[in-house]
Amino acid sequence: MNVVVTKSYEDSCAYVAQEMVALVNANPTAKLGLATGGTAEKVYPHLVKAYQDGKVDFSEVTTVNLDEYLGMSPENPVSYRKCMDTWFFDHVNIDKANTYVASGLNDPEEEIAIFNEKLYGDKLLDFQLLGVGVSGHIGFNEPGDHLVAGVHIEELDESTIQANSRYFDSPADVPTRSITMGVGDIMKAEKIILIATGDSKIPVITKLLADDAVTSELPVSVLKLHRDATIVIDRELAEKCNYKELEK
Ligand code: PGA
Repeated sequence: MNVVVTKSYEDSCAYVAQEMVALVNANPTAKLGLATGGTAEKVYPHLVKAYQDGKVDFSEVTTVNLDEYLGMSPENPVSYRKCMDTWFFDHVNIDKANTYVASGLNDPEEEIAIFNEKLYGDKLLDFQLLGVGVSGHIGFNEPGDHLVAGVHIEELDESTIQANSRYFDSPADVPTRSITMGVGDIMKAEKIILIATGDSKIPVITKLLADDAVTSELPVSVLKLHRDATIVIDRELAEKCNYKELEK
């Protein structure tokens, strides 16, 4: 697992977008695994800008998103489908038919089959973008005594529900279940980049970088087993995690 330390969160977003643009330019039919969440959100304006500046062409790219809340309508502004449309897809030349965000409304078993078809029907993911939860989750793979390899329904950790409550009017509206790629699905991506920032991530990033341990109690730690996984953090977070590395 590589660690890249940037000057600022803004620089982290620019760095991640630059890597994604380079990947698509090298492979115009790339299959990208995408992420939502407040941290990944700010990567997308950089991708849109690169498109507007004629630096990248998304016309042949396909995408699969990590997860969606169960019971969530794709029309709901806080659905991950809506987030992806408004943050990214609506502003670039991607064919929306080639973008997949799981339906939170479909029968879960049926949707798991569709999700698998999208992940494995043609080729594997060339890339996966990740955030990390305060629980240490990637996708919605929450900590526990074991992890799940494939696409599945996951009960959200209390800390995740708490963190997500900022997007909902009342606590009763915050979803408690999701459909998510499993850790095995994520690990099959050729290249993985995780972006993290902010004080709420100090405990998980500190634990992640402290040693070589891989544990289901810290799902993000599986990235230590991946051949090409990079964690991108800003200097402020790196310092607060007592991580010392050369700045890029
Ligand atoms: P956040 O979410 O960027 O909004 O903190 C990240 C995640 O839960 O993966």
